Amino acid sequence: MVHQFGDFQNVVYAEALKGIASRYPFDYPSIEEKAAKALPDWVYRYVSSAAGDGRTQRANVEAYSRYGIIPRMMTSPPERDLSTVLFGKKVDVPIFMAPIGMIGLCSPDFHGDVAAATAAGATGVPYCLSTFSQTRMEEVVPHAGGTPVFFQLYLPNDRELAASFIQRAESSGYSGILLTVDSWTLGFRPNDLVIGNFPQFRGFCMQNYYTDENFLKHLSKPPEEDIAPAQRHYATVFAKPLDWEDLDWIRTQTTLPVAVKGIQHPEDARKAIDHGADVIYVTNHGGRQVNSGVPTLQLLPDVLKSAGTTPVVFDSGVRSATDALIALALGATAVGLGRPYAYALSYGGAESLTHYLRGFLAELDLCMAVAGFKDLEELREAGVVRVTG
Ligand code: FNR
Repeated sequence: MVHQFGDFQNVVYAEALKGIASRYPFDYPSIEEKAAKALPDWVYRYVSSAAGDGRTQRANVEAYSRYGIIPRMMTSPPERDLSTVLFGKKVDVPIFMAPIGMIGLCSPDFHGDVAAATAAGATGVPYCLSTFSQTRMEEVVPHAGGTPVFFQLYLPNDRELAASFIQRAESSGYSGILLTVDSWTLGFRPNDLVIGNFPQFRGFCMQNYYTDENFLKHLSKPPEEDIAPAQRHYATVFAKPLDWEDLDWIRTQTTLPVAVKGIQHPEDARKAIDHGADVIYVTNHGGRQVNSGVPTLQLLPDVLKSAGTTPVVFDSGVRSATDALIALALGATAVGLGRPYAYALSYGGAESLTHYLRGFLAELDLCMAVAGFKDLEELREAGVVRVTG
C-alpha cells in the first residue's frame, strides 16, 4: 500500500473548519522555541550544545540552502512512494530518528525513549535507541509495534559488557546495530562545561548499564544505594579508543546488520565496508564532536561514490523536509532527524512527537508531489542543483 502522507495536511485544514486549531507548531523555529521553554535549562543546554564555537553545527544547517531541485511539470504524480530499504528491510519512509542519548530526559515524563518508540509505532518512522537510555533496551522496543528499532552502540572498553549489549539488542528484537565511531571520547563543549553539565555522571540515561550484570558485578554497591562506584566504573568503561579490528570483532558477535556511524571521509567509508559494515552512516554528530567547520552535506557525494552499492544513510543539520529531500536527491538511502525530534518531544511527549513526524512526512510527500517525482528513484535521477558557491 502506498501511504499518502500529505493527507495529514487535509486533516489539519478540515479540523480548523470545525474550530479545532492545531495544538502544535509545524516549523522548526517555533518547535525549538517551545522546547526552550518546556525543557529544564540543563536538558535544553545539553541538547542544543555543540563542540567549540559551534561553527560545524551552524555549517550543517546552512549547507542545505546552497542546494536546490528543479521541479518537473505535467507529470503530477497522484500517488507518491517514499519507501526505501533500511538495514535490509523495506520501510515506508526514508527518514528515521537518530540516536539521542538523553532523549529519555526530553519527554515531560522523563521516559522519552519509550515515547519515541511509541511515536515510531504510530508513524512508521524507525527509531534508534542510544546506548544511553532512561529505560532499559528490552522495555523500549515493544512500544514501537512493528516499526523497526535499531540499537546504537558506544563500544565499552570491556568486551564482556560490549558482547552483552549486542546480545541483549539482538535477543530483544532490534533490527540492526549502529556502531558510533566518532565519540570514543567526548568533544569539547563549552556551553555544557561552564555548568559541568554531563547527565550520565549524575546517573541519568544509564539504564542499559545499570541493568547489565557485566557492569553491576564491578560495583561494591548497586547504583541506587551508592552512585559513586557506578560513576567511577562508567568512566573506566566508556568508551574504547576504536580501531578497525573492533568492527571485525563486532561482526563476530552478531548476525544483525551493522552500520558505522560517524563516517565523513571516503577512505573511511571504504575501510568500514572492507571490515564488514552493511551500512555507512555519514554524520558529524550534529557538530558536537569535531568542530571541523565542514558540513556533512558537502561530504555526502564523495562518500556515496566510495561506498558503491553499500547503502549510505545520513544526518546532521536536517531541519525541514526540504533538507531531507536534498540529501535523498544526492543519493542517501535514508535521512536521520536529530535535535528537532528531541525538541518536538519536549512539550507533549509521544503525542507532540507523533504530530511533528506526521507533519515532516506530509511536507516531504507534498514536496515530492509538487515537484513532480513519484518515488525516490525519480528524485535521484533529477538530482540537485548547486545554487550558490
Ligand atoms: C546526539 N547524537 C548521538 N549519536 C549517537 O550515535 N549516540 C548518541 O547517544 C547520541 N546522543 C546525542 C545527544 C544529543 C543531545 C544530540 C543533539 C545528538 C548525534 C545524533 O545521532 C545525530 O547524529 C545528530 O543529532 C544530528 O545532528 P542535528 O540534526 O541534531 O544537528
